[in-house]
Order: sequence, then structure tokens, then C-alpha cells
Amino acid sequence: MKVLITGATGLIGQEIVKLCHQSDIDVHYLTTSKNKLTSEKNYKGYYWNPNLGEIDLDCFKDVEVIIHLVGASVAKRWTNNYKQEIVNSRVVTTNLILESLKKEKHAVRHIVSASAIGIYPDSFQNYYMESSLKEDTGFLGEVVKKWETAVNEFKTINIEVSLLRIGLVLSNKGGAFPKIANPIKQGIGAVFGDGKQWQSWIHIEDLARLFTYVVEEELTGLYNAVAPNPVSNYKLTHAIADHLAKKIVLPNVPKFMMKLALGDMHILLFGSQRVCSDKILETGFRFKHDNITQAIEDLIL
Ligand SMILES: NC(=O)c1ccc[n+]([C@@H]2O[C@H](COP(=O)([O-])OP(=O)(O)OC[C@H]3O[C@@H](n4cnc5c(N)ncnc54)[C@H](OP(=O)(O)O)[C@@H]3O)[C@@H](O)[C@H]2O)c1
Repeated sequence: MKVLITGATGLIGQEIVKLCHQSDIDVHYLTTSKNKLTSEKNYKGYYWNPNLGEIDLDCFKDVEVIIHLVGASVAKRWTNNYKQEIVNSRVVTTNLILESLKKEKHAVRHIVSASAIGIYPDSFQNYYMESSLKEDTGFLGEVVKKWETAVNEFKTINIEVSLLRIGLVLSNKGGAFPKIANPIKQGIGAVFGDGKQWQSWIHIEDLARLFTYVVEEELTGLYNAVAPNPVSNYKLTHAIADHLAKKIVLPNVPKFMMKLALGDMHILLFGSQRVCSDKILETGFRFKHDNITQAIEDLIL
């Protein structure tokens, strides 16, 4: 089988590429950086510039499934311009692929796209299933709604759609985890706010397995991509500290301070979403890392 991956060069993408190759799945990928282009037998890069509507149409050759990961990081300061980039890098890219396929003879039958649990409103009590009708009314909710709406348009050209609502990805190669773990290692880690906010996490290895599982099992629709046991920010911080044999000595970081420092983006640290993974479990998927203590042990050797 051959898949086309957007965002293949990123944190999650690289892990999925590795797994595809282990399963003899050939990978085409789209990149906005000409210096990231390679041309190996099972890993071929194609250039695109979504903002200018440019895409190398050869990327679709013999591709059956698209794994759509592209997106500007949400962990950079949310200026008005950058907010637009966060939206465009998801919506404009999705539209460009869709419009290109409308004009091309192709073999694509399925798109499996990243989405995010940021669609669910901040809550200490709610336990979110995919069927939840509650939607965050802030910027993150707006991004996810536009992103999912754009991806769902593939149904109009008879391409099956899967959306994986990803939680906090734990990886020792990048993303949030080193940013949380390193200060703790240096003895300057602290809990955010009262630490009660839910963090619905997923180990990167399980996330990559989940993407290839959905491709291979041809699952469609919405799936929460989080491990079965979300934890509080307090538990996450202390589990890392315990593993590193460090003490959390600093006082909790107050919300107003981070709001002053980060603006609207502080919600990434203080937002609370307890998200349920039952739907994917019911299809037979098994997580390798479903316990935070064990996941941390695996990530910090
Ligand atoms: N990591 C998490 O905790 C997490 C949680 C929830 C959802 N997600 C979602 O999962 C997806 C992948 O996440 P990731 O952590 O792997 O991200 P990442 O490491 O930042 O990689 C994203 C890739 O997207 C491309 N890209 C970045 N900015 C772009 C722009 N403005 N226009 C076009 N392409 C752009 C880049 O590829 P090229 O340089 O090759 O073009 C980059 O390698 C993202 O959509 C993210 O929102 C991630």
C-alpha cells in the first residue's frame, strides 16, 4: 500500500513514517521545505506551497490513503497574524488537496486526519466521548471546528473520512513533554494553577500505532486519540518528579501570571479536558502505554 502524509517531517509524522515502513507501507509526503525533500524507494517527498496554491500533483500517484497531519504549532504566541496561520495551515492545506483531487484521476479512498481535543470545552467534571455535542467557544475550538469541517468535505468526492482528536502527545523527541520534564529535572518544575486540570495524554508510540491501525482496519468517523487514563496536571507533574527522584519545591504557578506572560495561549496549560478512549478500545485497539507512571518510565530511561 502507498500513503501520502502531510506533516510527515514533524514530531508525530516521523513516528508514523517509521511504523509505515515496518508494515511495508510506502510513503509519499508533502513538505513546504525544499531542503526536506528526499527520494528513496519507500519515502518520497513532494513540494507544496499551500498559501500560493502550489502542489506537486505527482504526490498522489498510486496513493490509496492520505494521513493529514499538517499544521502550524499552537505552542507559539497567538498574535492575530499567527492565529490566522494556525487556521490556514490546516484549512487551506485541506482545501488544496481536495480541489487537486477533484481535478485528478486518483486512487485515494480514505483520509485519516489529525484533529485535537481542544474542540471540547474546558471542564473539570465532563467526560468527553466523541458523541459530545459540547464545543469550546474559544480560539482552539474555532480552529478544530474549521479543520474538521474542511476534512469532512472529502466525503463529497466519495473519500472516507477519519478524524483523530489528539490529546497531549508525550514524546522525548519534542512537543510538550521535554518542556514539562526539563524544568523538573533542574529542580524548577511547578504545578500549574491548582493542578486539578485534566490532561488527556497519549504516548507517541501509541498515537502512531493508532493512525496505522485506523488505516489498516479502514475505520471511519471520529475517534479520541488519548490513552485510557487521563490524569490531573498535579499527578502528571509529580509522576515525572517521582521518576526523576526530584521534589516539587516551587509554589504552584498562578493562572493570572501565565495569562500575563502568554496571553490567550495560557489556556494550553490551564485548560481541562477529560477525554474518553472507549470508542477506539471497543474496536479492539490496545494501548501499549495506558498508565502515566509506566509511560513516563518508558520516556525517561
Ligand atoms: N503534538 C501534540 O501534542 C498534538 C496534540 C494535538 C494535535 N496535534 C496535531 O497533530 C498534527 C501534527 O503535530 P506535530 O506535533 O507532529 O506537529 P509538528 O512537529 O509541528 O509538525 C507539523 C508539520 O506541519 C508542517 N507545517 C508546519 N507549519 C506549517 C504551515 N504554516 N504551513 C504548512 N505546513 C506547515 C511542517 O512540515 P514541513 O516543514 O515538512 O512542511 C511540520 O513538520 C498538528 O496538526 C497538530 O495540531 C498535535
